[in-house]
Amino acid sequence: MRIFVIGSGGREHALVWKLRQSPQVDRIFVAPGNGGTAQEAKTENVAIGAGDIPALVAFAREKAVDLVVPGPELPLTEGIVDAMREAGIPCFGPDRYCARLEGSKSFAKDVMRRGGVPTAASEVFTDYAAARAYVARVGGPLVVKADGLAAGKGVVVAATTEEALAAVDDIMRDHAHGAAGDKVVIEEFLEGEEASFLCFCDGEHAVPLPSAQDHKAAWDGDKGPNTGGMGAYSPAPVLPYAQAASTMETVILPVLRVLAADGHPFRGVLYAGLMMTSSGPKVLEYNTRFGDPECQPLLMRLESDLVDIMRACVNGTLDQTPVRYDSRTALGVVLAARGYPSSYPRGMEIAGIPAADALPGVKVFHSGTRVEDGRTLASGGRVLCVTALGNDLADAQRAAYAALERITMPDSQCRTDIGAKGIRRLQEGR
Ligand code: AMP
Ligand code: GLY
Repeated sequence: MRIFVIGSGGREHALVWKLRQSPQVDRIFVAPGNGGTAQEAKTENVAIGAGDIPALVAFAREKAVDLVVPGPELPLTEGIVDAMREAGIPCFGPDRYCARLEGSKSFAKDVMRRGGVPTAASEVFTDYAAARAYVARVGGPLVVKADGLAAGKGVVVAATTEEALAAVDDIMRDHAHGAAGDKVVIEEFLEGEEASFLCFCDGEHAVPLPSAQDHKAAWDGDKGPNTGGMGAYSPAPVLPYAQAASTMETVILPVLRVLAADGHPFRGVLYAGLMMTSSGPKVLEYNTRFGDPECQPLLMRLESDLVDIMRACVNGTLDQTPVRYDSRTALGVVLAARGYPSSYPRGMEIAGIPAADALPGVKVFHSGTRVEDGRTLASGGRVLCVTALGNDLADAQRAAYAALERITMPDSQCRTDIGAKGIRRLQEGR
């Protein structure tokens, strides 16, 4: 089989790494890929951007690929699944209609309302004065969200009324996120610990992946600006396996039913970003794809053939497909360029990756890297995700940081406390 993976991050390196282990796979193309995918067996990077749908379809046709696997949200919201389907090429993921669950926060809120999914109370505004009046009336703390895709930066958690008003000014009046902020969702502030709950879906059936936890803040102790994610681990003690079935009932299956009733069965990965509140899990957002970096520890734990699972999602046969996981814990630490998520340098040479990879149960996934004359250079904000398996969370944390010690990169930064919240929870027996 020939597989075509789309994207260039750590998530896509993990997808390639897992897919190429399938005995069914002969060849993998990645558009555009990174320094890590360039070095994987059976794999070749192709210089096409992840948003260039016509070029991606043309390439998939020319190479007669058997399965397309888009990693990031952009091609999904741009309708890559619809375009590939028209060309007769199987593509793992939701169609453009379903991808709006991630691409439009107001659409997601509407689906949640129709499905009875627990989420923060919210109002949608297109009028700037009305949004300000609402904030002034309700008062902080509030969360202000640009409706459209804003690379994870369109959400402001405002502790006070003044901060919420400033966020409305930024997003609606000053267009800080362009057209993504023509509409805003203003919602109730929820308290609790966050968890990522992902399911494989075939339109009708869903199979949960183990729970995971991301670390969105840039600095230790969950301080600093929001990033794409600085590290992740699985399972997350805050969402134990015993709760997977009930969580799926509350936050995944109602969405599948609503979308199927709309004539657009959801296929692919449905990711619920949850706040584990004192009154149960509430949905903060849906993503319609694997999370990055959650994908890296999750795929390290997946034992079943990912090609079989993805084909079952496309064909509607997920209920007949075994999905098994390693019972150990996996934890990934992101090595970023200093200054990320603001401005940061590029081009730094990275040393020690082979020494880290040589450790048992360790895999170094590349994000923003490129290979030049045999050297691996940093080319993005998040550069690597050093991921390790361990017998428990503390063991996985030790193993991942021990592997990271073997790697050197000038002008780098990483969090030193990935997994700490989960370890604390386990120690306290909560
Ligand atoms: P989102 O992109 O909607 O998941 O928001 C990004 C981040 O903002 C989340 O991971 C949370 O940390 C935070 N956040 C979003 N909505 C809320 C809320 N209603 N209450 C508290 N924090 C929130
Ligand atoms: N790690 C969160 C995301 O991929 O959106």
